[in-house]
Amino acid sequence: MKNIELSKALDYIDRIHEIVLQKYDTQPKALVRTFGCQQNVSDSEYIKGMLEKMGYVLTEEVDKADFILYNTCAVREHAEDRAFGNIGALKAYKEKNPDLIIAMCGCMVSQPAAAEKIKNSYPYVSLAFGTNMLERFPEMLYKFMRNRKRVIDISGAAAAGDIVEGLPRHRDSSLKAWLPIMYGCNNFCTYCVVPLVRGRERSRDYKSVVAEAEELVASGAKDITLLGQNVNSYGKGNSDGVYFPELLRMINDIKGDFRIRFMTSHPKDCSDELLKAMSECSKVARHLHLPFQSGSDRILKAMNRHYTSSDYLTLVEKARSLMPDISLTSDIIVGFPGEEYEDFLKTVDIIKKVRFSMLFTFIYSKRNNTPAAKMEDKISEAEKGRWFDELLHEQEIISDEIMSGFIGKELRVLCEGVKPKTNLLYGRAGNNMSVTFSGGEECTSKFVNVKITDFNHTVLKGEPIN
Ligand code: 5AD
Ligand code: SF4
Repeated sequence: MKNIELSKALDYIDRIHEIVLQKYDTQPKALVRTFGCQQNVSDSEYIKGMLEKMGYVLTEEVDKADFILYNTCAVREHAEDRAFGNIGALKAYKEKNPDLIIAMCGCMVSQPAAAEKIKNSYPYVSLAFGTNMLERFPEMLYKFMRNRKRVIDISGAAAAGDIVEGLPRHRDSSLKAWLPIMYGCNNFCTYCVVPLVRGRERSRDYKSVVAEAEELVASGAKDITLLGQNVNSYGKGNSDGVYFPELLRMINDIKGDFRIRFMTSHPKDCSDELLKAMSECSKVARHLHLPFQSGSDRILKAMNRHYTSSDYLTLVEKARSLMPDISLTSDIIVGFPGEEYEDFLKTVDIIKKVRFSMLFTFIYSKRNNTPAAKMEDKISEAEKGRWFDELLHEQEIISDEIMSGFIGKELRVLCEGVKPKTNLLYGRAGNNMSVTFSGGEECTSKFVNVKITDFNHTVLKGEPIN
């Protein structure tokens, strides 16, 4: 079944390649723009890989493109507004070049109401498809090229279909790689649209994941991020008994000097075995992104998160006792329906107790068809904005203290390149902190030990040792 899907996709790619060769004198250009999370970035890499095999060359220049695809996000309203705004701006390009093919995909498109809106209000969008159907993109594009009839199909979205292995993939970076290990989410946090648009959890076979990690390391990747909405529940639907801690150990056993990261973890599934595996795997980065969302037990319950603030603090203690140098980051939602100022203060209390090195903070955004959308929400946006600013202010103080605590310390940094303006090298340490430092271009793609001397906002500065 899976192999049939793959060979069908590859066959359509070949057929499009033939059309492309006939139609264009020079190689046509394709632009793929990605909104939202790393899962989308990863999906876009598959789309880019397929486009290259179809004969397109990738571009970033919108006015030169023959094919434009926007891979959209739905997690907050702002993301949707941006996607529609951006796609609206493409109308002028289509008028100038009627041959231009405009496509949309991803989480926003996967919602029936949004797909309907595209159908009715954006007639120049020729192709729209949902999540979980990347392998069908070649067939849909082929049909559009042959019949010139719009193809809008989100039937794969939210479906828990088989994972199709082996699609072509264009890696944006040879140094830092995204490696999806699972798709979908079963948690149904009451504010979140993701389970509605990405469907139920499905884990890739561990052999495919390990083989891909081996290939990445062999081709020079030094920083591999394992991706999933909830990586801690990796393997639960598979029958081979390999869960996330075992998977981490297997990837850690691959020979070579590289770093393993993962995201995102759900506190309810962050087991002792996982923390133990992390602490025993030397290649696993000392960084844990563990979103707690709210410090109020009442709100956590309304969010359907399945843990309390004290469970969370216990987890943090366990992680720090096993890995004293671990850096913690989190996502937080401010202004969830029913949240009062006292609840919000409990969130601030958690950030003061845990001292995260970085926070991703969001004001609650109402998402259609989620349970929270039906909950009463009495606090004004202006009030939520004030709470939000208060939280940011508290975090700034903590971040500054954490940053200054690094001065004099040594960090192992993966050098990603040279910043054009300052001529400084830049990269990330294992704890995920951004670091700039002096040195020659030859350090690019290498691990460099850096002594931290200063910092500026969220970036540490230092000097290489030796
Ligand atoms: N409103 C605000 N933030 C949200 N997130 C998810 N859904 C919403 C929403 N409706 C945030 C959560 C999640 C992160 C990826 O986005 O904090 O962890
Ligand atoms: Fe959304 Fe919760 Fe699933 Fe994360 S774990 S994707 S916040 S439902």
